[in-house]
Amino acid sequence: MSEARNVKNGILEIGGISVPDLAKACGTPLFVYDENELDQQMSGYKTYFQSDQFETEVIYASKAFTCKALLQLLEKNGLSLDVVSGGELYLAEQAGFPMERIYFHGNNKTDEELKLALDMGCKTIVLDSLMECERVVELADSLKCKIEVMIRINPGITAHTHKYIITGNLDSKFGVMFHDEDTITKMIDLIKDSSFVGFIGFHAHIGSQIFDLRAYDAVIERLIKYIKKLSKDHNLEIKCLDFGGGFGVRYTDEDQPNEIQEVCRRIIKKCEEELLKYDLHLKKIMIEPGRSIVAEAGNTIYHVGFMKKTPNKEYLFVDGGMTDNIRVALYDARYDCDLAEKMDQKKEYQYTVAGKCCESGDILIENAPLPKAETGDLLVVYGTGAYGYSMASNYNRLNRPAVVFAKEGKARVVIKRESYSDQLRLEADEEVII
Ligand code: LLP
Repeated sequence: MSEARNVKNGILEIGGISVPDLAKACGTPLFVYDENELDQQMSGYKTYFQSDQFETEVIYASKAFTCKALLQLLEKNGLSLDVVSGGELYLAEQAGFPMERIYFHGNNKTDEELKLALDMGCKTIVLDSLMECERVVELADSLKCKIEVMIRINPGITAHTHKYIITGNLDSKFGVMFHDEDTITKMIDLIKDSSFVGFIGFHAHIGSQIFDLRAYDAVIERLIKYIKKLSKDHNLEIKCLDFGGGFGVRYTDEDQPNEIQEVCRRIIKKCEEELLKYDLHLKKIMIEPGRSIVAEAGNTIYHVGFMKKTPNKEYLFVDGGMTDNIRVALYDARYDCDLAEKMDQKKEYQYTVAGKCCESGDILIENAPLPKAETGDLLVVYGTGAYGYSMASNYNRLNRPAVVFAKEGKARVVIKRESYSDQLRLEADEEVII
């Protein structure tokens, strides 16, 4: 259990507020983030991802969870931002996030999105393909807009959880395969010919929920060796390398994540060693954590509704489900949970926690050990802060939950609960003129 969660008289508190009080004030399902924990994760990366050999930058991957309040915390902690769509970019602009700290990713950015980025003065576009490179050069040159670019490389290393594979994922939809010299050369030449597009370096992201840090060693070794050759062959100045995100978090006791300090220290040390080995100097090294900043700070509170026994299971139904957490159905993700007002009771029962959607796969936790549950109990699922709200849907026309930041006994709603009328705001009956 995270340090930020306390138990007082058998009742769970998050950010110094009891879960029943949160549920009463804000309703359920409810996402509650411990704001101090968010702050700690952000400042942890900022503090430990430092070197005296090169500059460093921590770029938060906003796809994990974003809203104005989170962006303000990131800004306060000096982090930068990775966006992957016009929508994420627009939100950042509306939140007043500094454009010179935004990196625009994505494999199929539309013209509208690229123009928006150029128009807003977004700092860097991370190019994913030759076609995108052609289009960005065309647009920047014709609009006379300056933009920095990086090239996303597929380094031929894939990692997921405890495994990593060298020369895996050859057919990934992301990036340009590192040994595809022809494509890389064409991209570099196009950029060199433009007076508006400036090349700054390469990016690689090797996967998610990675525990084995040797995967990062491997990608660092490969990319630094690679840029040594490229910079010589193309007389190219490479200023920075971005090694992406993917650092593992603890969802259940089976997960043993590395401390932020250890992740940062290892990446920095490996970069320093490899740069020395190849006698290279880089201006900056970046990383892009998403999940590891927000996952464990976030929790979902549900009310237990009806219950049902089948020959082999006892179901406990909650008032949300796959609409606020699709990760279980999509990736077979595992979570821990508790009954928030029965924290001092023995977990003598096993329940299948299921959502309310018309879908058999709408299960949140199989065989969850819990005390005896009753209708009206509050169930808390831990560690739902990443890719929960950001992947939420209106399936079955369920309203998306509210999101609350709790800190030292005070809570603030940072995203309001959706209402039925909110869901109808896009209904139209307009004549289409063709
Ligand atoms: N940078 C790039 C280019 C990425 O594609 C991603 C994640 C990240 C950084 C951040 O990775 P993180 O530190 O959050 O693992 N929906 C999935 C995760 C998809 C991740 C996609 N890219 C899930 O719920 O597990």
